[in-house]
Amino acid sequence: MSVNTILDSFKQVQDSREPILIVDDERSILEVVGEMLASQPYDIYLAESLAIASRIIKEKEISIVLTDLLLDDGTGIDVLTTAQKYQPDVKVILMTGKPTIQNAISAIKKGASDYLVKPFKMEDLLATVERSVYQHRLEQENIRLNEIMSFYAISEAMGSVIETDKLLNLILDTAVREFNADYAVLHLVHADGNISAQKNVCKDPSISQSLNRFSQELAESVNQRGKPRIVYEKEAFAWTGLRAIKSSICQLLVAKGKTIGMLSLIRTKDIHQYTTGHLTTLSLFASKAALSIENSKLYQDLEEAYFDTVEALASAIEARDQYTAGHTNRVWKITMEIARTIGWQDSKIKELRMGAVLHDIGKIGVPDAILNKQGPLTNEEHDIMKIHPEMGVRMVEKVNFLKPALPYILYHHERWDGNGYPQSFKGEEIPVEGRLLSVVDTFDAITSDRPYRKGRSVKEAVAEIKRNSGTQFDPAIVDAFIKAIGSIDFDQL
Ligand SMILES: [Fe+2]
Repeated sequence: MSVNTILDSFKQVQDSREPILIVDDERSILEVVGEMLASQPYDIYLAESLAIASRIIKEKEISIVLTDLLLDDGTGIDVLTTAQKYQPDVKVILMTGKPTIQNAISAIKKGASDYLVKPFKMEDLLATVERSVYQHRLEQENIRLNEIMSFYAISEAMGSVIETDKLLNLILDTAVREFNADYAVLHLVHADGNISAQKNVCKDPSISQSLNRFSQELAESVNQRGKPRIVYEKEAFAWTGLRAIKSSICQLLVAKGKTIGMLSLIRTKDIHQYTTGHLTTLSLFASKAALSIENSKLYQDLEEAYFDTVEALASAIEARDQYTAGHTNRVWKITMEIARTIGWQDSKIKELRMGAVLHDIGKIGVPDAILNKQGPLTNEEHDIMKIHPEMGVRMVEKVNFLKPALPYILYHHERWDGNGYPQSFKGEEIPVEGRLLSVVDTFDAITSDRPYRKGRSVKEAVAEIKRNSGTQFDPAIVDAFIKAIGSIDFDQL
């Protein structure tokens, strides 16, 4: 979040016209007070009764209420209570022609910000209103500052999440918490211009479908107009026939000048309506969220491109070794199932994908005559074959992105009893990546056809793996392999 964005948000508060509601049951007084304030940068609303005042308070965003103490259908205290209920930040100035100390104390105790005695001079009215406007703005700026400080910390957190799914969850959970929303949804704009909901959070599942429909239409209208939007209860009811929506805000997600989506928030329980202040704060949050989503997508595109390159490299070995077609892909899928069984995190599983795909890359250095020999290898040929782990390491160790594959490449022919190669490590001396891959590599070799023998069944291969648990293989990995093997559909591999 830049300093300019923060200053802009303060400027919006400074430059905005204050919405002021004047309540008096005498039409002439109402008009005179309205005229006196009309020369100021205020938007004036007039109400001749408590009923009209209540309706305006529920529907419009109001900063200051100027109300007579006695009304035909209630009192100024009723106006004050309604204003505090629906718009807690509002400042209320009470006016009366019959001032008593008792009235003044009671009004201030109930939360009125000031008191005017009728008849009053224009300068007294202007000074009182200006004082309340100043106080209101100061409080709004304080609220804004606190929100910005809190968003700064959240922005830092968003910037550090790379996985899109986790990032979208973080954005929605934060928006729900910070904006006290009962429903939040993130829509993304696709390349063909269509908009779809990517994720949502809904505190009341019984109305989630209706809210989904409403927010989809709201997002489409905001996208079409290119401007954020607030929808209040009355409009939402006319739109959806749903009384549950108290207020809703929808903000555009813009990254590098391009609209990538929309973030909508709905309040169904909280009667305090969203205001243009909320919309401004949401715009700060949305701009950081949009940038984080864009970065996360770029990172993932780049990562996919890297994986494509890695897979192209691996297919170069398979093209030469005609008897192991599909081997790396099968090994990757089975190893991944075991890794999930033993509770590996997603980031570790991504590294595993690279290791499984590249583990035999060093076979590129083994002559065709050995690699494709129609029969068992001689001891000498076997010694040449045994160089492939170290050859593979030499090929990839200088590429930073490929480094996580190194333990898989180097240790997948080590044995639990120490009789493997190239290091002859024993037990847990062998990195777990090697212990894991060696089980699956062997399993796939047993089940694959060779020119001199037919591949054996899964059942036979599993029995063979079990038989070698504790000698060739780590017993804990063999247990995980047996647990995982049941959930694998071998026809799909
Ligand atoms: Fe190998």
